[in-house]
Amino acid sequence: MKALVKQTAEPGLRLMDVPEPEHGPGDVLIKVLRTGICGTDLHIRAWDGWAQQAIVTPLVVGHEFVGEVAAVGDDVADVAVGDLVSGEGHLVCGKCRNCLAGRRHLCRNTVGLGVGRDGAFAEYVVLPASNVWVHRSKVDLDVAAIFDPFGNAVHTALSFPSLNEDVLITGAGPIGIMAAAVVKHAGARNVVITDVSPERLEIARKVGVSLALDVSRHTIADAQEQLGLKEGFDIGLEMSGRPEAVRDMLDNMTHGGRIAMLGLPADEFAVDWSKIVQHMITIKGIYGREMFETWYAMQVLIEGGLDLSPVITGTYGYEDYDAAFDEAATARSGKIILNWND
Ligand SMILES: NC(=O)c1ccc[n+]([C@@H]2O[C@H](COP(=O)([O-])OP(=O)(O)OC[C@H]3O[C@@H](n4cnc5c(N)ncnc54)[C@H](O)[C@@H]3O)[C@@H](O)[C@H]2O)c1
Ligand SMILES: [Zn+2]
Ligand SMILES: [Zn+2]
Repeated sequence: MKALVKQTAEPGLRLMDVPEPEHGPGDVLIKVLRTGICGTDLHIRAWDGWAQQAIVTPLVVGHEFVGEVAAVGDDVADVAVGDLVSGEGHLVCGKCRNCLAGRRHLCRNTVGLGVGRDGAFAEYVVLPASNVWVHRSKVDLDVAAIFDPFGNAVHTALSFPSLNEDVLITGAGPIGIMAAAVVKHAGARNVVITDVSPERLEIARKVGVSLALDVSRHTIADAQEQLGLKEGFDIGLEMSGRPEAVRDMLDNMTHGGRIAMLGLPADEFAVDWSKIVQHMITIKGIYGREMFETWYAMQVLIEGGLDLSPVITGTYGYEDYDAAFDEAATARSGKIILNWND
C-alpha cells in the first residue's frame, strides 16, 4: 500500500510502498479515506529538535483520519466492516492506576499514533478496537477527518462552563478557532480570539467570535474596553503555546479566572506567579481528549449543528502531500486535508 513515511533521520517525508499493516484479534483494519495535517506532522517532516528525540525511523506518520472498516479481529464485537470511523490516537497501557480507574486520558504510558507507532497517512491503518470511534450520526467526511484536533478543542473549551462568561482565546490556529466555535455554541457571552496572522483572524471571524484581535497591532486591554468589560475575562483558553500570549492572558483575567492550557510551549519561560496567586487564577493543563467523553461531546455538538466548515481551507490528493504540507506550514491557513480515496 501507499504510505507517507519518515524513512531516515533527516528532513522530509517519502511517499512509498509499504506492506499493509497486520491486525490482531482485538484490532480493526481501516481503509483510510481522508486525513488532516497537524503541527506534529509538520515537526516530523521538518525533523526539528522535538522530532529528533521523539521519533524512531522508519515511521508511517499521521494521526488525524476518517476511514471505513475493512476487517475486524476475532475478538472485536462492537465495530463492523463498513463502519465509518475515526481514531483516538493516544494508545494507553490499560494497566496503570489511571487506566484501571477509567481515566485513560491520564495514562502515563501513552503511545501516539503516527509518533510512537505507524500512523494513518496511508491507505490502511490498524488500531485496537478500544481506540476506534464509530460515527453513528451523519458527519461530513472532512470534519470527521479532524475529530482528533476537534477533540483537543472540545476538551479544552468544555473544561470550564462558559455559559454567560467572557472567554479569551489566545491563538487562532485551527484548534483555537474550533474552540471559539464550541464556547460560542456553549453559550459564552463574549468570545475574543487573538493571533498575529490576519488570515487566521479572518477565518476566526467566520465562526462568529465577538472580536478577532491582532495582538501585533492592538492590546487585549483595548479589546476589553471595546467590549465594555470592566473586570477581565472569566475563562481563558491558551491555544498558541507562546510565552507572550500566556502573559497577555494572565494580565487580562478576572480575579478567580480559570485558564485551560492546550498550547505547547517549545521551552520553559517565566510568568508572574505572584499575580497568579494574588488573583487566585486556576490553570489546568490539557492533553489529548477524554476517552471517550470528549468524543461523545463532539458527536453531540455536530448533531446540534456546530459548523466547522470554515476551519477547513484546503484539500489535496495524497500524491500532492508536499504542496499540502507546505500550505499547512505557512501557518496562515486553516486545516489542510489529504484525500486518500476519491
Ligand atoms: N496539549 C495537547 O494535547 C495538544 C494537542 C494538539 C496541539 N497542541 C498545541 O496546541 C496549540 C494549538 O494547536 P494548532 O494546531 O491550532 O496550532 P497552530 O500553531 O496552528 O496555532 C497557533 C497560533 O498561535 C498564533 N500566535 C503566535 N503568537 C501569538 C500571540 N502572541 N498571541 C496569540 N496568538 C499567537 C500563531 O500565529 C498561530 O496561528 C499548539 O501550541 C499545539 O502545539 C496541544
Ligand atoms: Zn493532530
Ligand atoms: Zn495506563
